[in-house]
Amino acid sequence: MKSSSKPEQHRFILSSLLFIFFLCVLITINGIRYDSVLRFGRHPNPSLINTNGDIFCVSFTAPSLRRGAQVDVKFVFCNLTKEDQKVLVALEIMRYDDIIILDCKENMNKGKTYTYFSSLPEMLNDTDRPYPPYHYVMKTDDDTYFRLDNLVESLKPLPREDLYYGYVIPCRSMDPFVHYMSGMGYMISWDIVEWIRESPIPKNHLEGPEDKVFGDWIREGHRAKNRYNAKWSMYNFPEPPTQCTHELWPDTIAVHLLKNQVKWIQTLTYFNVTSNLKPSKLYHIP
Ligand SMILES: *[C@@H]1O[C@H](CO)[C@@H](O)[C@H](O)[C@H]1NC(C)=O
Ligand SMILES: *[C@@H]1O[C@H](CO)[C@@H](O)[C@H](O)[C@H]1NC(C)=O
Ligand SMILES: *[C@@H]1O[C@H](CO)[C@@H](O)[C@H](O)[C@H]1NC(C)=O
Repeated sequence: MKSSSKPEQHRFILSSLLFIFFLCVLITINGIRYDSVLRFGRHPNPSLINTNGDIFCVSFTAPSLRRGAQVDVKFVFCNLTKEDQKVLVALEIMRYDDIIILDCKENMNKGKTYTYFSSLPEMLNDTDRPYPPYHYVMKTDDDTYFRLDNLVESLKPLPREDLYYGYVIPCRSMDPFVHYMSGMGYMISWDIVEWIRESPIPKNHLEGPEDKVFGDWIREGHRAKNRYNAKWSMYNFPEPPTQCTHELWPDTIAVHLLKNQVKWIQTLTYFNVTSNLKPSKLYHIP
């Protein structure tokens, strides 16, 4: 009992303290490089994170291999400032190893996105790994539920270079070449990550709504000749209805604006996330 309840508890504490963070998803298509991971990669491994008693989100601990792709999900912070954060985040790393801490002061619309993308080439430059380490890098929010298998399937036919993928803003638009992709989750190919690191364009334009600012970089830099609009596989939770919402449906990659536990429960129930719970003499969930 003791050992199994501890991680849940610490994740509860961890996320209730640190609420300005986003998630990243790193993807390599074709598992060939990662054959050794195959045998671990069968099951999605969701872990529930409860925040403030009534909001929780789901992370999928890394590494995992999905239908031939390696997908790593990390929580991304700027510098930790409080003593309790240092202990709790260290515990999280020891248990799940799913944390990135950037050299910045915690913020949302003052350059964290730039720090994040521009730090990755060096952070992930490991002599033990091939370079580039991933084909695609995503930034998403902690109120977005991603179905990673469907995400991977949608990427397979797409170019591996000069790609900008996501949910086109404004909500009614279906043209990815006009504006930008919503911060609920946008993905770029690795060459654009390197461009962000090297180009003066992002460096000189850091402030503002991060998803819109990102779109400005792409436009100004004439990047992303390949774009993919994942609407309506990505959408806002159906309630309250707006032009950005869609009912939950099987063809889903991401559901956004899961702002409370009720919305998370409805979404996870709809997608049968817990229906394969392994039977055990230790519990019964009807
Ligand atoms: C973040 O922390 C590192 C290591 O403690 C420090 O060197 C750096 O100056 C800090 N950066 C910011 C922006 O506070
Ligand atoms: C990656 O590491 C190699 C060898 O240490 C180095 O030559 C290269 O510049 C590094 N690249 C990046 C993006 O840090
Ligand atoms: C969830 O499971 C039910 C019952 O097996 C099935 O009818 C439904 O299609 C599943 N939903 C999804 C989104 O896969």
